[in-house]
Amino acid sequence: MTLDEKLGQLVQRAGGRSKALNSRLDDAELERVRTGGVGSYLHVAGAEPLAKLQKVAVEESRLGIPLLFAMDVVHGYRTIFPVPVAMASTWAPESQERAARIAAEEATAAGLHWTFAPMIDIARDPRWGRSVEGAGEDPYLGARMAVAQVAGYQGGNTLRPGALMATAKHFGAYGAAIGGRDYNTADISERTLQEVYLPPFYAAARAGSGSFMVAFNDIAGVPTTANRELLRGLLRERWGWQGLMVSDWGSVGELVNHGVAADRAAAASLALDASVDMDMVGGVFAEDLKSVVTKDPARLKQLDEAVLRILRVKEQLGLFDKPMQYHDVEREARELLAPDHREAARAIARQSIVLLRNEGKLLPLDPGKLHSIAVIGALATDGLSELGSWRAQGKVEDVVTVLKGITAAVPGIRISSAPGADPRNDDLSGIPAALKLAKAADLTILMIGEDFDQSGEARSRSSLELPPSQMELARRVLALGKPVVVLLANGRPLAIAELAEKAPAIVETWMLGVEAGNAVADVLFGKYSPAGRLPAAFPRTTGAVPFNYSANATGRPADPDLARDTVRYHDLPITPLFAFGHGLSYSEFGYTDLAQSSQSLGPGERIDISVTVENTGGVPADEVVQLYVRDPVATIARPVLELRGFKRVELGAGQRKRVTFSLTSEQFAFWGPRGQWLVEAGRIDFWIGASSGDLRASGVFEITETHMGTAPAAALPTRVIVSN
Ligand code: NOJ
Repeated sequence: MTLDEKLGQLVQRAGGRSKALNSRLDDAELERVRTGGVGSYLHVAGAEPLAKLQKVAVEESRLGIPLLFAMDVVHGYRTIFPVPVAMASTWAPESQERAARIAAEEATAAGLHWTFAPMIDIARDPRWGRSVEGAGEDPYLGARMAVAQVAGYQGGNTLRPGALMATAKHFGAYGAAIGGRDYNTADISERTLQEVYLPPFYAAARAGSGSFMVAFNDIAGVPTTANRELLRGLLRERWGWQGLMVSDWGSVGELVNHGVAADRAAAASLALDASVDMDMVGGVFAEDLKSVVTKDPARLKQLDEAVLRILRVKEQLGLFDKPMQYHDVEREARELLAPDHREAARAIARQSIVLLRNEGKLLPLDPGKLHSIAVIGALATDGLSELGSWRAQGKVEDVVTVLKGITAAVPGIRISSAPGADPRNDDLSGIPAALKLAKAADLTILMIGEDFDQSGEARSRSSLELPPSQMELARRVLALGKPVVVLLANGRPLAIAELAEKAPAIVETWMLGVEAGNAVADVLFGKYSPAGRLPAAFPRTTGAVPFNYSANATGRPADPDLARDTVRYHDLPITPLFAFGHGLSYSEFGYTDLAQSSQSLGPGERIDISVTVENTGGVPADEVVQLYVRDPVATIARPVLELRGFKRVELGAGQRKRVTFSLTSEQFAFWGPRGQWLVEAGRIDFWIGASSGDLRASGVFEITETHMGTAPAAALPTRVIVSN
């Protein structure tokens, strides 16, 4: 390869914009491919258009190296599934894997080799707009969802021909942006980085994610795009991951803005040295790296390594042998929105719904007892919002809106509907008309929240309250004193204390994808008992964030008694509004017969913790059984609770199942004072419960020996066995 051909492989160009795919693929672009100046395109799609482009690369360029086609296929390609924070609410990694598998089937049929997913950034400040794209606040849950998605996209833990390569993003601590402002500095301790932000990445690396993407932001002054220690040192050398590292959009050039590079050449040099292989769109590797590598033999060697890593994934995906494998137009037509894909979208959407509140058992609704329902709220007819942030090739006309779903579910009931107010503006003039309908109906279903564009990249909000028009609409509808079920749509935890006080029934629907309306109707009318659980707590006010259930023990643990000076706000209760792991059911569950296989746990051993869960409430339902642990005395103050196991179990009415969690001592390692994973001898407390705020049974055991751990504890999976 000539130097220019090598540099060309490192270049990723935009073939379009995220909402106008392929729009930039003009003649000049084809010429660039012909001369070997491009290694990959993003924001492109379609079996046929991409076949043409690939042919130019393979048949008309000197070396015939195939291109890599990439896109943000984040929660579905054409069949759009719930947004990631919603899928995390299933607490069912198997469902998340299925959704990713289907997305991969569709995307690979449409010419794509590579998705920029999963996003596995931990989000502990819901002001951060990208909370919608991840699995919430917890590293253990996050790691399980990360592994599930990598497995789903790639169809296994190694890249093979025909697979969709996954991208673990955004490596580092992107979710720790101060104040929740997207792209902002993260200033966190090494311990927090290792224990909280990195475990999902470790898990994704182990699961074989073919690529990683660096975060835009810096950690304590070191922009991740130039973070040699993190990228080359930790990820590649210590974790042994050898995949393709892509920058984020223009993040190489942004090293100049960060103030760590004087010019673009210096930025290119830093990024290559850190082991960034491919420059997404910025053009810095394309234009400024040549001068760097011609002057510095060390960089030239690094360039060869980067080229090799890119060629290796192309080879693993089978592109050298069968470059046209991803361009079967008939397969594309068959796969997109296939009936079984839609069915899966409905099933997973139902699983994603979280019943936050259900006073007086207002839900499920009995259609036999209702003559008329008013469906109020602009979001109830907003198909685009159901598609959420990153909708790939999702089409608004594919969406079953909430109004449509309800109307189809109960043909015998008179349905009226009015927008009332729209989250996008402060116009309240539609409220009187909506109130008229609500007054005339037996029951109102009120859908309020954020639209799709109020969360996502660069969509951070300073307030977690409902948009003002939404809360005002809710106040006025609830003031009628008639039965109201509130459906929330949103991409982040919200501060809804006033609503929770006034509304008897609140259903968290997030943004549920193409089958949203059917899934919501299934839950409202009792065809399906909700069992989704919050993957992040709901705070009482914006000022209460960041707030995390897994906080360190302090010298003055929070006490409800205001007369005592403890770690709390004086003007707020010490608990969140809805706890991490919270979610109600139409049924009830008993937890009995807690048992443990041993009183002690040594290195290399396992301890089994079992409990019987019984569905005592008379309706078939799922329950999410959760295991929390605490290391009460260690050389480092440890969190008061940490999730270390969970299982969503299906239980018929009256049915009981035994759930066993099997753990190793390494799962209790923490980032020790010398920068190593350390398991200390001593007592471990554990609890099993229905949420972090609803612990039902507890026990203790002893770790017998102090020893080293080898991996981030939260990344290691607990084995779960369910028996009858
Ligand atoms: C920037 C985003 O941060 C990243 O998540 C995405 O994959 C790229 N743009 C490409 O669209």
